[in-house]
Amino acid sequence: MKIDGKPYRSVWVDEDGWSVRIIDQTKLPWELDILRLTDAEATAHAIRSMQVRGAPLIGAVAAYGVALALRADASTASLDRAVAMLGETRPTAINLRWALDRMRARLHNLPAADRVAAAYAEALAIADNDAETCRRIGQHGLPLLREIAARKPAGAPVNVLTHCNAGWLATVDYGTALSPMYQAHDEGVPLHVWVDETRPRNQGAALTAFELGKHGVPHTVVADNAGGHLMQHAEVDIVIVGTDRVTRHGDVANKIGTYLKALAARDNGIPFWVALPHSTIDWQVADGVAEIPIEERAGAEVTDLTGRTADGRIETIRVVAEGSPAANPAFDVTPARLVTGLITERGRCDASEAGLRGLYPEASG
Ligand code: MRU
Repeated sequence: MKIDGKPYRSVWVDEDGWSVRIIDQTKLPWELDILRLTDAEATAHAIRSMQVRGAPLIGAVAAYGVALALRADASTASLDRAVAMLGETRPTAINLRWALDRMRARLHNLPAADRVAAAYAEALAIADNDAETCRRIGQHGLPLLREIAARKPAGAPVNVLTHCNAGWLATVDYGTALSPMYQAHDEGVPLHVWVDETRPRNQGAALTAFELGKHGVPHTVVADNAGGHLMQHAEVDIVIVGTDRVTRHGDVANKIGTYLKALAARDNGIPFWVALPHSTIDWQVADGVAEIPIEERAGAEVTDLTGRTADGRIETIRVVAEGSPAANPAFDVTPARLVTGLITERGRCDASEAGLRGLYPEASG
């Protein structure tokens, strides 16, 4: 996707052929700061501190982190160390484990001398595959938006509500939930996106709004608590969100607050769709509420807000009474029964084991 006319992916190998470039998402939307990662430790830090975030993207970046570790030391011990360290950075998004498992499976039987080139090639394959997968998710989600547009008066926008950031910044390119929106906008379907601000980290306000704005997609940022009201007043035609892990039964872990949107959507008869690549499906897990580990992040993310001052400085201020503690569960699980359907790179399906196995008959687990 483009920023001010220049094409970007969210992770790429530098011109030097080995170091890894990322966009520091903690600086967006105020600054476009491109970071250079040169070792696995810096890569783990980038994932943990959310300089990169979004389930598919952290998988791809972690894969490059393995390549960086092997460049320094191509031994099996180094491979195992890097996989363990990177795997501990964030617990909820399954794409991280998926990408690291894939890297380890590809590399551990190779002679050390062949590992570095193979690691970079595998990381690139993961990144390229994610971009193409997300493009296809867009193709399979697009008919949903076309159909709604066809039922509305000519020119009336399809109102989509989304939560968090599941756009190109959360993936390698195109995005998951935002991919159908970009494709609809590009082919002239009138569209308007309600962007949940997504406290506490504000991925909606800072990242989704930034992306949509750069692409010219009409959108409005709303406080997280506004969604139910908008739905009651027929201001939302469809909800589309991304996900960090989908169980084989179709339960959906996503950014905290998603479950409340699904409840409101159900109460108001509004379709609630979830967009995901194959790498987000956890075939080992059935019951999402009971089994998916939910990341608990620092309370400071709730007590403090970061923004840009009038004179251009990025500053963090406390907005909670001194002494009041804060809890910060980063994700919640929406049970499959509240999900209208899943949009994948292979097509759409029910949020159920039968639905998922219909699209992925080769899956084991
Ligand atoms: O904590 P984050 O920002 O890494 O959370 C991930 C997300 O961006 C969302 O939960 C998203 O909707 C799924 S990732 C495409």
